[in-house]
Amino acid sequence: MAEQQFSPGLAGVVAGKSEVGLVNGTDGILLYRGYRVEDLAEHCTFEEVAHLLLVGKLPNAAELAAFDAELKARRALPEGILDILRALPKTTHPMAALQAATAALSGFYPALDAGDRKASWEGILRLTAGMPTIVAAFHRIRQGLPVVAPDTSLTAAADFLTMLNGERPTEKAARLFDVCLVLHAEHGFNASTFTGRVVGSSLADIYASMSAAVGSLSGPLHGGANEEVLVQLKTIPSAAEAPAWLDHMIETKQKIMGLGHRVYKVKDPRAGILQRMASDLFSTQGSTPLYDIAHAIEKHAAVRLGPKGIWPNVDFYSGLVYQKLGLTVDLFTPIFAIARIAGWSAHWLEQMQDNKIYRPDCIYAGPHDVSVPAIGDR
Ligand code: ACO
Repeated sequence: MAEQQFSPGLAGVVAGKSEVGLVNGTDGILLYRGYRVEDLAEHCTFEEVAHLLLVGKLPNAAELAAFDAELKARRALPEGILDILRALPKTTHPMAALQAATAALSGFYPALDAGDRKASWEGILRLTAGMPTIVAAFHRIRQGLPVVAPDTSLTAAADFLTMLNGERPTEKAARLFDVCLVLHAEHGFNASTFTGRVVGSSLADIYASMSAAVGSLSGPLHGGANEEVLVQLKTIPSAAEAPAWLDHMIETKQKIMGLGHRVYKVKDPRAGILQRMASDLFSTQGSTPLYDIAHAIEKHAAVRLGPKGIWPNVDFYSGLVYQKLGLTVDLFTPIFAIARIAGWSAHWLEQMQDNKIYRPDCIYAGPHDVSVPAIGDR
């Protein structure tokens, strides 16, 4: 047998072809279907970007209006999904609630044949429009507050914040949040996108595939990192003490959350945009010790870890921005998911166009030909 190559984490292994997104980690470039993420964040709404990812082109005004109407018509959840959310313990992590409700939607809008393009597209619209409603509804339910119904006069970003907080956000806050959704909508063959494609490759339906992607995103090395960033920053007493804290973490070989990336070996372009947004927010609304600590960490990390190719990733500043928008820490990853559903679904559609079930090899490292002893001899 030819010698098998093993690449932990599939690093460097080409596992597919895609036209959806490009991550160039050497130069710090992120493209969605050819467009730079910075350009999209400046000029487009999340709805336009979702159309770009899912349909393959930026919509003109008429196409955008039609797509937006399709999404708005699907923002409300079936009562049964709300009942499922109500049945969960209030201590359930919102990602677990989102994963459960995402899978359960298939009972209400069956799309069991993954090859049925119409049913799958319906599922994609339901998920893109409905996941924000799920996250907001569960957040209200767990606090014992009444669920706020969607308001289709609002953009997806403004409606999500309204359903969550029970009051309309300012225009500035809504646009800021909209930009965050744009920045998180797509990122190539990362763990959760790959998970969605792998599950889809068995021809599992869109709901099963996307709920698996939600599960993958929930881990602290992936989407869960932005929660961990704030948890870590809160353990640092002051900005003055940040360099010593960082030195200690490096010396004791502990991970600093929000730094480092599998692909980017320079600063993540999304981190740059979020940093500018955070800086604007904090300069107009007042700085906080956490922002100052983060800034001090970034400065010192550039010296200590920059030469190793470890720079801030998207999660380093997103949590600070979300916190300033009044969002609780455990909502950060669900917010990531409600943006990334666009990228996940675009990849899933691509997988369906040219599908082969994923079945990599594994080097067997266990024993051979062991005989079964009688139960009394084990
Ligand atoms: N803090 C300290 N050291 C680090 C960090 C970090 N955040 N990231 C990498 N390193 C070190 C590693 O310990 C390793 O050191 P070694 O050579 O002495 O063993 C070296 O840098 C190479 O790092 P790897 O872990 O091999 O890098 P990999 O590409 O596998 O991991 C990962 C990338 C998982 C993102 C890692 O950087 C990490 O754990 N970061 C913190 C968690 C985080 O912020 N995740 C969010 C990623 S972005 C996203 O999912 C949206």
